[in-house]
Amino acid sequence: MKTILVTGGTGYIGSHTVVELQSKGYEVIIADNLANSSADVVDRIEKITGIRPVFIKADLSKEQEAAAIFDTHHIDGIINFAAYKAVGESCEKPIEYYQNNLQIALNMLANMKRMGIQYFVQSSSCTVYGEPKHNPINEDCPTMPATSPYGNTKQMVEEILHFVTKSGDIKAIALRYFNPIGAHHTALIGELPNGIPNNLIPYITQTAAGLRQQLTVFGNDYPTPDGTCIRDYIHVVDLAKAHVVAMDRCFENRNKSNLEYFNIGTGNGFSVLDIIRSFEKVSGVKLNYCFGKRREGDVVQIWADTTLAEKELGWKAELSLDQMTLSAWHWQQQLQ
Ligand code: NAD
Ligand code: WQD
Repeated sequence: MKTILVTGGTGYIGSHTVVELQSKGYEVIIADNLANSSADVVDRIEKITGIRPVFIKADLSKEQEAAAIFDTHHIDGIINFAAYKAVGESCEKPIEYYQNNLQIALNMLANMKRMGIQYFVQSSSCTVYGEPKHNPINEDCPTMPATSPYGNTKQMVEEILHFVTKSGDIKAIALRYFNPIGAHHTALIGELPNGIPNNLIPYITQTAAGLRQQLTVFGNDYPTPDGTCIRDYIHVVDLAKAHVVAMDRCFENRNKSNLEYFNIGTGNGFSVLDIIRSFEKVSGVKLNYCFGKRREGDVVQIWADTTLAEKELGWKAELSLDQMTLSAWHWQQQLQ
């Protein structure tokens, strides 16, 4: 049985991935400093799968804390979720974002080299594409200059991997997520935003739950069919499964190059108003929203060409938009 170190494994996407890894027979070690998650996620994972993952509280940006994990545990592969991820905050604290996100990745890679661990899956993002010239966008489209330090860290880790994987000692897969939303169907794990949410779905569910007064739709004068921005929203459980098949690909030696990139989305674009309509339908709650100014830095529209992931990983998103918004609502309801 292979053992995967899941950095950031108590976080939103990490916790869902741990569940899917365990259900496919992988052993999991979670390493997280709980900067943006809580330790009870480990209990919740155990409740879902019946298996308790090993949990190590460690700041992976610190060389010694990272190395200690490798000195004391056998590891066959790494999935690297650990990072700071708030776009706005990254503009206020760029140095902290570079220090944290880059140092974590470097520490993981240095220890892989030291211990002879071959396989690395990196959380990347569609943010590397900027504003696409056409949609759907595929992996061959050039990346664009980042618009935030956060986005820049995602690009920089991809660039680091480009050179680190050259010798072939380490093989890496960068999964470029589009917009992950939703929660596990048990409502035992989900997204826990800190303070006022920046992202659409938690803002919607918190407004519906009465925690926020009103959702502001950022702009309705975009050149899209209903004037609001379009994104490729993907259910976090589908996204989690993509990590399992990426890890399988590595252990079955199916990687076609030392560094591969895959878009992980559904291939469908939905507008902000589509999301609101889906949420209102599945929840039966009338959402209080208004139209406001455009948000600086928002791309107008982006959705994924997922042909490569389908062909190479044998992976395709299965869950519908209504399943995404309903699971997000169930998660919000159990939080109260
Ligand atoms: P999250 O904040 O829920 O999870 C990240 C986890 O990393 C947290 O549990 C946090 O405590 C941990 N962490 C941060 N710094 C650490 C450190 N120094 N040492 C140990 N642990 C540390 O975020 P998420 O939404 O689950 O995102 C996971 C990954 O996916 C991130 O790399 C993020 O950039 C990437 N990503 C997220 C999205 C999204 O919309 N959620 C989209 C694209 C890419
Ligand atoms: C979605 C749509 C908003 C809030 C961000 C990061 C990106 C990525 C995922 C990591 C947009 C609109 C939102 C609100 C709104 N993560 N909106 N009112 O901006 O596509 O992506 O998270 O790599 O890097 O930038 O996601 O959920 O913030 O916004 O109208 O209160 O909802 O304008 O069109 P985004 P989002």
